[in-house]
Amino acid sequence: MSQAPRKTPDQLRSARWFAPDDLRSFGHRSRMMQLGYSEEEFRDRPIIGILNTWSELNSCHSHFPERVKDVKRGVLQAGGLPVEMPALSVDESFNKPTSMLYRNMLAMETEEQIRAHPLDGVVLMGGCDKTTPGLVMGAITAGVPFIYLPAGPMLRGHYAGKILGSGSDAWKYWDERRAGNISDAEWLGFQGGIARSAGTCMTMGTASTMTAITDAMGLTLPGASSIPAADSGHQRMGADCGRRIVDMVWEDLTPEKIITEAAVSNAAKVAMATGCSTNAVVHLIAMARRAGIGLTLDDLDALGRTTPLIANVRPSGKDYLMEDFFYAGGLRALMKQMEGMLDTACITVTGRSLGEEIADAQVFNDDVIRPLSNPVYHEGSLALLRGNLCPDGAVIKPAACDPKFHVHEGPALVFDSYPEMKKAVDDEDLEVTPDTVLVLRNAGPLGGPGFPEWGMLPIPKALIKQGHRDMLRISDARMSGTSYGACVLHVAPESFVGGPLALLKTGDIVRLDLPNRSLDMLVPEAELAERKAALKAPEPRYERGWGYMFSKHVTQADKGCDFDYLERDFGAAAGEPDI
Ligand code: FES
Ligand code: MG
Repeated sequence: MSQAPRKTPDQLRSARWFAPDDLRSFGHRSRMMQLGYSEEEFRDRPIIGILNTWSELNSCHSHFPERVKDVKRGVLQAGGLPVEMPALSVDESFNKPTSMLYRNMLAMETEEQIRAHPLDGVVLMGGCDKTTPGLVMGAITAGVPFIYLPAGPMLRGHYAGKILGSGSDAWKYWDERRAGNISDAEWLGFQGGIARSAGTCMTMGTASTMTAITDAMGLTLPGASSIPAADSGHQRMGADCGRRIVDMVWEDLTPEKIITEAAVSNAAKVAMATGCSTNAVVHLIAMARRAGIGLTLDDLDALGRTTPLIANVRPSGKDYLMEDFFYAGGLRALMKQMEGMLDTACITVTGRSLGEEIADAQVFNDDVIRPLSNPVYHEGSLALLRGNLCPDGAVIKPAACDPKFHVHEGPALVFDSYPEMKKAVDDEDLEVTPDTVLVLRNAGPLGGPGFPEWGMLPIPKALIKQGHRDMLRISDARMSGTSYGACVLHVAPESFVGGPLALLKTGDIVRLDLPNRSLDMLVPEAELAERKAALKAPEPRYERGWGYMFSKHVTQADKGCDFDYLERDFGAAAGEPDI
């Protein structure tokens, strides 16, 4: 039991709905009784909202209808009242044009659901890529105590004696199929074996990256992000979340006490050490800005240069998947390995310090979780580039690309739309060499629209047949965290708003110099000025609805793609509802 000063029942937020002897509160109480609760069940106890991003089209959260029972069990044991509430299930697999279009919708929904209802604390149930930042961003702004419950990775994929990793192996074997090396029957086997349990992608993709970041920031029970969805430990973690959130309410352990600059910095270092998804950049910046912390691309680059990659998990690592990472000790063990680099005084949702939480953590397999002295890659997993192609930055994952592209010069082959590029890369007579730099534009936050994961541009068939499996690619898109290759992403400003990528022409020489963090087109200034003057603004993508609102307010990649009016400094914080 924590020694923190405790709230009294009349100080509960929900008491404002239920305690007064007036007509409005009479209405609230009578409707709770309509729900079947007697007064002793909802008076003077923390009401815990469980925001559940389950849907029958979210394959990663298919265990949530069961898991929510564990959370409720824990809440009841600790003397709270659990109330499950649905939240937008932003799923990665089916959501078009891209789930990223809806992250901010989930963030808004989370914030407003919490603010509008008699909730004293919240358990956030998410995991599939955008659900983590969406839920966390909204809950940070809402400001009530919360715990994040990560869905957990799925089991390792398996087919015909091969271990399969989400995303990564789909891309890899697809290229083999395009090269004519895989039969229809084998392909069906891969299809059935690559995702064989509930849970999120089990490579270190965006899901595992974002849950690790949330864990390292202190917002999950320590180590929760590593527990596979199918492990009974995941059920126990669910019940633990339920028990702990009730005490967090009494202790008034609100998010701003946990999310400090040091906690964000810990999260960024841990992300780099795990070989994180490039999407981490966008989401971590957005989450930090909600907490009033102005994290920048340059801050991340600096952390990237000094943090070695020590999680040997695909796609940045060579051999292992999240299930192996869990057996090797999980995130607590990884944080223990890099303890000297972290601010261990930061507190977590437990009320204890990170240092206390990892004190007894152990690495059980030091090939999976490497010591700092034997990293998978000497620097962190991300590098941030600047230059005349990306004055506001671009991102690359050096560990996931063939080192021969780290310094590269070659002619651009530029496409304005995804369908145009897709058609071209399947043309076996396409004029392309291994030095060609494949470029896709109009794929950013506004151009995509919604910032789709198109950035791992397919290698042209002509090169695949010659045995090539990597080439330098550039876009203003994102890419899936399970992707790999020499892909420069998030070029900002994007071409759709007139960023310099819009000026590039096929045949122009592009130069990447990763050690010096630069990306340039070798085109004379005067020529670029002429091209700029001739540039026409494209037609807007949306004339109504959510897409219209999105395009009016989304910020560029280097700012996290939040809506300008949801950012902390935009206006006065919303007060409590006037009830
Ligand atoms: Fe849900 Fe990858 S599709 S985490
Ligand atoms: Mg993904």
